[in-house]
Amino acid sequence: MDKYMLLFQGTAFSSKSPKEIEILADYLFAINADGIIEKVVAPQDEEYQALIEAYQGTDRFHRLDEGQYLLPGFIDLHVHAPQWAQSGTALDIPLYDWLNTYTFPLESKFADLDFAKLVYEDLVSTLLANGTTTVLYFATVHKEASLLLAEICARQGQRALVGKVVMDDAEQTPHYYRDASTATALQDTEDFIVAVQELAKNVKQGVYPVVTPRFIPSCTDEALEGLGKLAAKYDAHVQSHCSESDWAHRFVQDRCHKNDAFALHDFGLLRDKAVMAHCNFLDDADADLFAETGTAIAHCPISNAYFSNSVIPTARFQAKGIDIGLGTDISGGFSPSLFDNVRQAVISSRMLEDGVNPAISPEERGVPNSRLTVDEAFYLATAGGGESLSLPIGRIQPSYAWDVQIIDTTLPSAKLPIFNTDNNNAKNGENRDINTNREDLHGIFQKIMYLSRPENIREVWVQGEKVHSRDSKTL
Ligand code: GUN
Ligand code: FE
Repeated sequence: MDKYMLLFQGTAFSSKSPKEIEILADYLFAINADGIIEKVVAPQDEEYQALIEAYQGTDRFHRLDEGQYLLPGFIDLHVHAPQWAQSGTALDIPLYDWLNTYTFPLESKFADLDFAKLVYEDLVSTLLANGTTTVLYFATVHKEASLLLAEICARQGQRALVGKVVMDDAEQTPHYYRDASTATALQDTEDFIVAVQELAKNVKQGVYPVVTPRFIPSCTDEALEGLGKLAAKYDAHVQSHCSESDWAHRFVQDRCHKNDAFALHDFGLLRDKAVMAHCNFLDDADADLFAETGTAIAHCPISNAYFSNSVIPTARFQAKGIDIGLGTDISGGFSPSLFDNVRQAVISSRMLEDGVNPAISPEERGVPNSRLTVDEAFYLATAGGGESLSLPIGRIQPSYAWDVQIIDTTLPSAKLPIFNTDNNNAKNGENRDINTNREDLHGIFQKIMYLSRPENIREVWVQGEKVHSRDSKTL
């Protein structure tokens, strides 16, 4: 009976589909030694009581307290790790000026490994404390500091996909921050891929190298083509920015005489393991190409409010079968929290649906059928991210990694406004009627998504290992 490494008892929320939440009220979750969910057991299942009796009283058994709930760990599909050092800075200027005035000077400082360590250690622990268990990272052009980021994630227990950034076009990059040449950009990328694959041999939760042209404007054609070949050679993930803003979208059209999506495809950079950030300006043919190649979109709703000149039509892209997840885009987005980005995804979609200019008549003002519910935005932050990365993460169900966050709604310093007597009366897993509680639990889920703060996130687990906890009730 004691074949599992861990047995959890509690109520979990996970996505059943892109539109629907599944509520697993007072279930058991059995985790094997590899950190994979082996079994999910409902209270009415035969082995439920026997399992509890076998594990109760051992350190493998974890029963959630009243008012605590399990969510899948969040998957952040777009983080510029070095930019954590300038979160919230200068978001009132356009993308091109922001990159050249603030971002490139900051990123150039990551040649200094001591500075890189300081920022990266703090970022990774902050993201874990915000419930983010998997991250797709842009590092900088520096091979050593990029590897350091992968090592820090490996040690802190976060699942990470890390890219050494390529920027080799002397016309669009400053002299103090670019690859020394196209040849070194490609060689450093290949060295980096090999080094991360070596590191990964001893990392339980996984660490993966990512081919990372910053975006077409900062790379030469030769580099982009070489990176496409490296992605194929190593079957690696790929990330870049695609059609983010009016400026970026038009720049690629002018230079390549086609849209960003088709240009990236011609360089071999669209693939099942590719995730492109933003993508607000994809037209129908671009979107079809994404769907055909299995390329995913990292939707970055907070960042988009500053830099993308638009709201991305997620419903239109999802209807075409494109995988979509959420990204903070630190520091185009100021917040390290995917809770904040879930909220913004919902709010922005409502503004797209209704329109925002009161001088225009209501019939003409918005784009019908654009809204996202909070359940749909939660899917993007969890299962949608897992699908985008082609990894078995983001759902609480068998054969997925045990990547979870435990939310406490009863914390004195961050209590959520839950006043449901039915729920409060259910004690010790007895007399909890799943059917009568169903609606209430969905209400609680919505409160968790809209109102949780980092203090409410009591524990975070990745691949069956506890990687973050707040021990005192008051912290
Ligand atoms: N496009 C190219 N680089 C960047 C970046 O660092 N942030 C954002 N938001 N867009 C980019
Ligand atoms: Fe970005």
